[in-house]
Amino acid sequence: MKIGIVGLGYVGLPLALQFARSGIMVLGFDIDPAKVKKLNRGESYIKHISAIAIGEQLQPGRFAATTDFSRIQEVQAVIICVPTPLTKNREPDISYILDTGRAIAPHLAKGALVVLESTTYPGTTDEDLRGVLEKNSRLIAGVDFHLAFSPEREDPGNPNHSIADVPKLVGGFTPACLARAVELYSHAVKTVVPVSSCRVAEAAKLLENIFRSVNIALVNELKVVYAAMGIDIWEVINAAKTKPFGFMPFYPGPGFGGHCIPIDPFYLTWKAREFDISTQFIELAGLINASMPRWVVERVALALDRLGKRGLSGAHVLVLGVALMVGLRLLVNTTQVGRQMRAVASDREAAEMLGINVTFIIAATFFLGSALAGVAGVMSGLLFNQVTNTIGFIAGLKAFTAAVVGGIGSLPGAMLGGLLLGIAESFITGYVSSTYTNLFVFALLIAVMLVRPRGLLGRAQLQKV
Ligand SMILES: NC(=O)c1ccc[n+]([C@@H]2O[C@H](COP(=O)([O-])OP(=O)(O)OC[C@H]3O[C@@H](n4cnc5c(N)ncnc54)[C@H](O)[C@@H]3O)[C@@H](O)[C@H]2O)c1
Repeated sequence: MKIGIVGLGYVGLPLALQFARSGIMVLGFDIDPAKVKKLNRGESYIKHISAIAIGEQLQPGRFAATTDFSRIQEVQAVIICVPTPLTKNREPDISYILDTGRAIAPHLAKGALVVLESTTYPGTTDEDLRGVLEKNSRLIAGVDFHLAFSPEREDPGNPNHSIADVPKLVGGFTPACLARAVELYSHAVKTVVPVSSCRVAEAAKLLENIFRSVNIALVNELKVVYAAMGIDIWEVINAAKTKPFGFMPFYPGPGFGGHCIPIDPFYLTWKAREFDISTQFIELAGLINASMPRWVVERVALALDRLGKRGLSGAHVLVLGVALMVGLRLLVNTTQVGRQMRAVASDREAAEMLGINVTFIIAATFFLGSALAGVAGVMSGLLFNQVTNTIGFIAGLKAFTAAVVGGIGSLPGAMLGGLLLGIAESFITGYVSSTYTNLFVFALLIAVMLVRPRGLLGRAQLQKV
């Protein structure tokens, strides 16, 4: 079997690789030629997906990418994973889904299966997508081709949940559509959960995300109340979560970002208006979560004031943990201010944002270390009446290596480097004084580690707000 996956982003690419790993031929479609070129060269543009993972499926020919939508005719099933953002007026923008429908419809083979995975409001699959597919293909859904919805439950960068292990909901336009979709996903996912319609599957996905949005808002509200009372919300949550039933911990934050929580709940809000129903809970959660960045900024300004500084004016503020998820350099769906921020992923970058010139410190450490080691070499030569120049030179060399390894590498790496050089020196010189210079180099390594960016950052004036 050969399938097509349209939209090779955070959802589409891992899914494509998972199907390929399951032995299914996958043709990936994207409108972005740069992404397609990269994939066909075996390169990745998503941090938590390795080039090796792509190469493993590319080499045996189980996976390839293209921008040519006429190749839809080669596949027996098409899975759509394109974006579903909000418009600037905060209304659902399903134009990517409809554009995809128009692009694939003329090439759809009779009997093919089309599955939508993009998060959206109930009715998108069997109303909007079905409409463009039928209009542009002259095929009838449920008769000439199968149609289904299966929400993605991707948690980018989370190593504890693989696509294969997370149960997959599937809703079909007809029972036959459902059977085809269940059969397709069973190749790649351990547990497939059929539901009675596309709309139930669409609604279930929204429930999952609204549940998170509302609970995050609740704990954010409690954070503000408890902060005013001088109570630490984190301690409160840790205490509450010792209850083994009836409680699920959610954690406060300085706002909400990402692909899902700030967007998806409002797809339902918009659709509910069609039925003259207002979704007050969802809107209130959105309001509380959206007010968090301002609350945090006010607290920072207050903390700076208390420090006797000039408040926020001219202050450099380092925000840790601003990315969407652990280890991801992803700033998506943030506010205007958020878009002006620079995401950093290392201590070194963070230190540099605080105005600390890390390169200068490493270079200075090197020169200081070399000079001190030279002096030590001369001293040990004098003490033991040996060839001072040789020892001084070798000690300098070791200090250089120690400074470089210690400055940019890890403590074990630096220790190992120093040790190997010490052993080498003992063999070359055979001098007793090697022991003394080695001891000195070890002391130097420790000193170098202390001035690494992490140490600097720790000593920088950080205020917990
Ligand atoms: N990222 C997540 O964690 C996550 C989790 C669950 C659900 N979702 C949902 O999955 C959907 C896709 O999200 P994503 O994070 O993968 O988005 P993304 O922006 O990472 O990727 C979308 C890809 O689709 C491509 N694309 C856009 N228009 C296209 C078109 N007409 N034809 C072909 N390709 C097109 C883009 O070039 C991009 O490569 C959204 O509905 C999102 O809400 C995302």
